[in-house]
Amino acid sequence: MAYEVDSVELPPVTDWVNDWDWLDDQWGANAIEIWNSVRQECPMASTERYGRAHMPVTMEAVQAVAQDTENFSSIWVNVARPDSPRSPAPPITSDPPDHRGHRRLLLPAFSPKMIAPMEADMREFCRGLIADLGDSNTADAAEQYAQHIPVHGICQLLGIPEDDADMFRDWIFRNFQLGPRDNAVREQVRVEMDAYFGELLEDRQANPTDDLTSFIAHAEIDGQEVDWTLKLGYMKLMIVAGIDTTWSAIGSGLWHLGQHPDEVAQLVAADNDDMLWQNAVEEVLRFYAPVTMARKVIGETEIAGCPVKPGDQMLLTFPAANHDPEAFENSEEFILDRERNRHVAFGLGIHRCLGSNLARMELTVALQEWLRAFPNYAVEVPEETTWANGQIRGPRKLPVKLNR
Ligand code: HEM
Repeated sequence: MAYEVDSVELPPVTDWVNDWDWLDDQWGANAIEIWNSVRQECPMASTERYGRAHMPVTMEAVQAVAQDTENFSSIWVNVARPDSPRSPAPPITSDPPDHRGHRRLLLPAFSPKMIAPMEADMREFCRGLIADLGDSNTADAAEQYAQHIPVHGICQLLGIPEDDADMFRDWIFRNFQLGPRDNAVREQVRVEMDAYFGELLEDRQANPTDDLTSFIAHAEIDGQEVDWTLKLGYMKLMIVAGIDTTWSAIGSGLWHLGQHPDEVAQLVAADNDDMLWQNAVEEVLRFYAPVTMARKVIGETEIAGCPVKPGDQMLLTFPAANHDPEAFENSEEFILDRERNRHVAFGLGIHRCLGSNLARMELTVALQEWLRAFPNYAVEVPEETTWANGQIRGPRKLPVKLNR
């Protein structure tokens, strides 16, 4: 697809400590090695590519940023051009004290009580995707499987048409892969999303049902109706937080397991509700954590002994913290049954992921159904996999042999 471009061209990165760039082509496939090599030199890298922006790579530094809402604001949640157009998507873009009301409003929709009943339908849906592969002995596990699963989940919750899935994924691609460098693209995505969700919210205001969109259309906090722009923000957040995050986690899990038949054999032998499955899912989340957030620095402070200044941007490199050897024993080993696993794939502090119950359910069901159908599948040429870089990292093309 052709897009109107207002983009900054940036050269490939050669120095990850002083000139990092999460949209560099090397990031997607090599981010873990990049963070590990930076950590050997210093706890925090910097760049001037998007104004001044920092990248902490230790658990201690990432925790310090996530827990300090006085000096780090969520008004900017990704590193982009400083003049990038940004619009509110609460609670993720809210700071205290406003954050609490938005979060409390949406929290019940994602409780275990709401998510558990969705599991049986999700299993059916995954089986349907597998059936759609027909008799073929090859597949693209990202395009033909992983990418569809979270769209189904979020469409069920919001009561919105799954037929619009390609449009949702196109918004996500443009917003995350092109948007940080390209203001015109980001603005255009905002206009398209506002028009789409505005129409849906108006419809549910007039014709309420029992879906989350109707709840948002009538949302009130402390007896006050929520502003229209913020209701649009909730809807947009559901799409940008709920789709490529879990799609990336499922794809990464399949990428990994397809190269480790010994681990697949252990999982296939285990019952779905065995502890091994829970531990394996958490280890996928630790090792391949897809989500990197950011903050705008609003106070004069220090992280890992380095001064940071108001106006700087700060990456919240949760996936890098998950590889810190100070925080995890044998951090570079993928340990299927790792028991002590206090990973931060879902973040930490007041913004910890609201959708984690949904994400865990989708990831678990997706992996279980795939292994049930294809216990001998293999990622034969890992280099053929393509990875999304930037904020949400995960496989976007994942050719596999099914070995039925
Ligand atoms: C494997 C999948 C997922 C991962 C790794 C993930 C990760 C994260 C992380 C790291 C944060 C913290 C943001 C911050 O500190 O700024 C977050 C917040 C959030 N996530 Fe997720 N997420 C996933 C799936 C989902 C899903 C399926 C939804 C459903 C819509 C969702 C909704 C949210 C929301 C609403 C927030 C904002 C919470 C707040 O600001 O209080 N996430 N997520």
